[in-house]
Amino acid sequence: MSTAAPKLLVTTTEVTDITPMIKRFRFEAADGGPLPPFSGGAHVIVEMQDGAVLRRNPYSLMSPPSQTSSYTISVRRDDAGRGGSRFLHRDVRPGTRLTISRPVNLFPIDWRARKHLLVAGGIGITPFLAQMSQLAAADAPFELHFAVRSREQGAYVDELEQRYGDRVTVYCDDRGERIPVADLVAGQPLGTQLYVCGPSGMMEWVLETARSAGWPDHALHHERFLAPASGKPYVVTLALSNLRVPVSEHQSMLEAIESAGVQAPYMCRGGACGECETTVLSCDGTMLHNDVFLSPEERASETKIMPCVSRFEGTSLVLQR
Ligand code: FES
Repeated sequence: MSTAAPKLLVTTTEVTDITPMIKRFRFEAADGGPLPPFSGGAHVIVEMQDGAVLRRNPYSLMSPPSQTSSYTISVRRDDAGRGGSRFLHRDVRPGTRLTISRPVNLFPIDWRARKHLLVAGGIGITPFLAQMSQLAAADAPFELHFAVRSREQGAYVDELEQRYGDRVTVYCDDRGERIPVADLVAGQPLGTQLYVCGPSGMMEWVLETARSAGWPDHALHHERFLAPASGKPYVVTLALSNLRVPVSEHQSMLEAIESAGVQAPYMCRGGACGECETTVLSCDGTMLHNDVFLSPEERASETKIMPCVSRFEGTSLVLQR
């Protein structure tokens, strides 16, 4: 996907308070037609003109993939974030027109699995809502283990229990309940695939526990989109475009490059997919790699950077763009 990829103009048709911190947004095509099909685990990039800043944030689609008359997303307000979730909570209401990307799936169901073990934390439940709808429709065996701070703060807890019965287990922090990950990964039939989405620390814990129990990497799936970090302002030089581009404190390098009128590829905008990988021609300073895509060796080579989430501190950074 790039900035030149076809986009969708949608109208917000419903905004629902799910918890005090989470709102659900329903979008329909502005021309009233069907939206492109997607599969469980897909996300869209939502564009938000927030004052002078154009934000583009990824959100998982949570509506049933069989339903293409609308898309729904859920957004947790992050008051310490850069502003995307605050913009959606504050400024988007029924009737608001937005531009979104076509759906892309970086977290698909592996349909070869004999069983699907889903582990979610907090707002990380959203891709699983679409996946569970598909798994249930296909009569595929699955179970969800869902950790929330409390039942009141957990999104869709009652709905999931009602819809899927004993295939769903909820764990509440305020009751001292923890997902028994070690027991779970030890007790699965051969051919089970594990999917995890939630806070970074929880995902690391689940994946490491599974690896330690002998699970192969091909059976482990995770979705980890990182929000671009804020930091000190700096200037990046684009060699092919012959431009010096300032990157402000709360702007990502990718956003700054786009603001300068240079098209750059992207898919997740969260440091996970590798699509925005850019060659570094020279670096006098320190690259602050915030992605989960580059290997330690690639980082050490100082020849690549993921501008959607990574930053720079120093005298000069020259990119081949
Ligand atoms: S757009 Fe996916 S890693 Fe940058």
